Amino acid sequence: MAPNTYLITGAAGFLGWNLGRMLIRGQSTVVGTWHHSKPDRCASGHCMQFDLEQDDAETLLAATSPDVVVHCAALASRAACDADPDLARRVNVDATRRLAEACAERDATFVFISTDLVFDGSRAPYREEDPVSPASVYAETKAAAELEVAGVCPKHYILRPALMYGQTAQDTPGSFLSWNVGRPAAGAAVQLYTNQYRMPLYAPDLARSIESLVKSNAGYGIYHCAGPERMTRYEIGLRIAEHFDLPAGLMEKTELPVTDDTSLVTEKVLRATGVEFMGLDNGLREIAQRIVF
Ligand SMILES: NC(=O)c1ccc[n+]([C@@H]2O[C@H](COP(=O)([O-])OP(=O)(O)OC[C@H]3O[C@@H](n4cnc5c(N)ncnc54)[C@H](OP(=O)(O)O)[C@@H]3O)[C@@H](O)[C@H]2O)c1
Repeated sequence: MAPNTYLITGAAGFLGWNLGRMLIRGQSTVVGTWHHSKPDRCASGHCMQFDLEQDDAETLLAATSPDVVVHCAALASRAACDADPDLARRVNVDATRRLAEACAERDATFVFISTDLVFDGSRAPYREEDPVSPASVYAETKAAAELEVAGVCPKHYILRPALMYGQTAQDTPGSFLSWNVGRPAAGAAVQLYTNQYRMPLYAPDLARSIESLVKSNAGYGIYHCAGPERMTRYEIGLRIAEHFDLPAGLMEKTELPVTDDTSLVTEKVLRATGVEFMGLDNGLREIAQRIVF
């Protein structure tokens, strides 16, 4: 029987909320965890508090009996990881290993959300089998967690999403959009790199890929997930200005000392799932229709 009971860690966060909303619409049973404050709109049927550092992974799984754990919770900001590398390791590596072990113990599938930033951006485009080259504390913890997951839980999917965008539980622009829309909307300029390349990924598309991978019984292992376009951060900013009716002049050009390109080859996930990743214009159009300012 296809797996139908999901546990989402970080269900009140940006990706966790998008995933929970989609799974519930598809009639799956979903339990989500939250951390600091109980969300008004946690996109899951049932929500419980769980601290990755303090709380016991086996107890969580015993209480929820999931077929699949999708581990979205993380110390996901580069700045927060730089500020406290020990905390980053405890949350992003140690807690991930404990959850993966608990899944292995119960024969559940573990889906770990890693990142395109496991690559340093000097040798794009990257395939799943390319060696990782993390260039930040955040990326190092994600690369280390990937190894732990692969080592302890045979039924695992490791997804490496590119820079994501979408909406949040509060109907606001989520992830990097909150900065790229929020500042110009308040009349402030945003500095955007002309030599940093990303393949913006619409969060609902990643959610669809996760469900499809799990349900189609695709081979376990690593999958790269990214939108179809390779663009500079500056080009992305101009598209955002267009869709959200913001002054393009507030999207200001700047440059990194060296080009940073974490583009991913996505053939493997496309073949396994059949899910088409949306282009930026279509994704932004969908969001702009729903966002409340
Ligand atoms: N957004 C992107 O562009 C992007 C790109 C590639 C990969 N990723 C990865 O995708 C995943 C989801 O990212 P996101 O953008 O949805 O991040 P997010 O909105 O910051 O969500 C992360 C969630 O983790 C929770 N969390 C943090 N520390 C915790 C702890 N000690 N115990 C329990 N929960 C804790 C946070 O809860 P509190 O806020 O209450 O602490 C938050 O709800 C992350 O693994 C991230 O590394 C994101």
